[in-house]
Amino acid sequence: MSGDLVLVIDAGTTSTRALLFGRDGRCHGVMQSEFAQHYPRPGQVEHDADEIWRATLGCMREVVGVVGIERIAAIGVTNQRETVVAWDRTTGQPLARAIVWQDRRTAPMCDRLRSEGAEPLVQSRTGLLLDPYFSGTKMRWMLDNEPAVAGAARDGRLALGTVESWLVWKLTGGARHVTDASNASRTLLLALDGADWDEELLDLFGVPRAVLPEVTDSLGEFGAALPEWLDASVPVRGLAGDQQAATIGQGCLAPGEVKATYGTGAFVLAAMGDAVPRSGHRLLGTVLVQDKGVRSFALEGSVFVAGSLIKWLRDAMGLVGSAAETAALAASVPDSGGVVLVPALSGLGAPHWRPDASAALTGMTFSTTRAHVVRAALEAMAHQTLDLMDAFAADRAPWTSLRIDGGMSANDWVAQDLADILDLPVERPVMVETTALGAGMLAAVASGWFGSLGEAEAMRGSVTRFEPRMAPGVRAARIARWREALAKV
Ligand code: G3P
Repeated sequence: MSGDLVLVIDAGTTSTRALLFGRDGRCHGVMQSEFAQHYPRPGQVEHDADEIWRATLGCMREVVGVVGIERIAAIGVTNQRETVVAWDRTTGQPLARAIVWQDRRTAPMCDRLRSEGAEPLVQSRTGLLLDPYFSGTKMRWMLDNEPAVAGAARDGRLALGTVESWLVWKLTGGARHVTDASNASRTLLLALDGADWDEELLDLFGVPRAVLPEVTDSLGEFGAALPEWLDASVPVRGLAGDQQAATIGQGCLAPGEVKATYGTGAFVLAAMGDAVPRSGHRLLGTVLVQDKGVRSFALEGSVFVAGSLIKWLRDAMGLVGSAAETAALAASVPDSGGVVLVPALSGLGAPHWRPDASAALTGMTFSTTRAHVVRAALEAMAHQTLDLMDAFAADRAPWTSLRIDGGMSANDWVAQDLADILDLPVERPVMVETTALGAGMLAAVASGWFGSLGEAEAMRGSVTRFEPRMAPGVRAARIARWREALAKV
């Protein structure tokens, strides 16, 4: 099939989207659908994988319906990473709720493995740490605690995978059970320099190889979507975890280029080239992309709470009516009035890795207003990013500028505050859909539109630049207050 557009599925944490991109990177259509977040117990977060599939299919049909299926050359898929889906190969139905990356239920399993001395092996092989964030312990938990999952494993009917595996399986009618290396590198089961699942890690986490997907390149041929979904068979040609896709979409391919995506969480990735990254400061080594079996890598700092903090202020606290009003509220006061918010709502990720930490709001007095608290919430984005910047510098991967994207990056106040607190130029693309664009670039290269991902950078558009302008004393005082508050959680 020829065609002049790529169709991208961007299956995020709170919503799934379908987007269309042309060769010039112009976005020809977007459709988005939110889905339910289930919080069965404190620290637990679940999704209904079937709802994700149905919402995704609905979005795809809507955008494709507008332009016509004959214009679609290929599909690229990008996704929330680490979230584990278990389904029955014979029925195609989920066997339990998906366990979401934010879920902390496997913290005791991580503690036990750490006390048994497993962390050095895990870190040196996978680039990851023993934290409930990653997929391996979630898979084991399902096998131990979900009778339908255990039963299907016994009968040889079980399939496990992250969200891209699930979606490709559904798209292809069960013909392909795959995961690309960028997603596989988040499971704790793949060595950064190993082509396939690692036998010793499978044993350590107790996950049978037979239930896992095939580890593939991030671009290539991954089967075709059934004609019953979109009225024609369309090849799937791009696969990547959303943070790796955003890194590609931001053109951060050469060592030293770094991006931060402010979505549900905030994820900073610095391209590291073809050398396996080793962090001495609790950052993560991860696969950026795999092409023809050859990997390039990134160093990652994962912060668990970014946009989800604003959603929480809106939905749980009722402090704001919409995310859009936060910039004006923050700007309505000269500073946060001494208020600091440490947003450890699902523990603390990099570089602290404290699954037990809980959020704190400090420095309040009777003169504290809603505006101060909202400003403190926005300021937390720059504070958390600063902690990562320091860890990257300590790992000899210093930043000279930062490319930002994701929903919260559209907030000019946040973008300027980042430039000020990091004391670095910050660049934001005019077209902020960089995650989807990255998956589109993968599918575009695999469709022969470009000879390489470097050439596919032609799909990227122009940027807005934010220069640091905060007085050094104000900056130093802010940072000192943040560190004090952080020490208390
Ligand atoms: O690792 C989790 C990450 O992939 C989630 O991304 O875009 O939903 O914040 P997002």
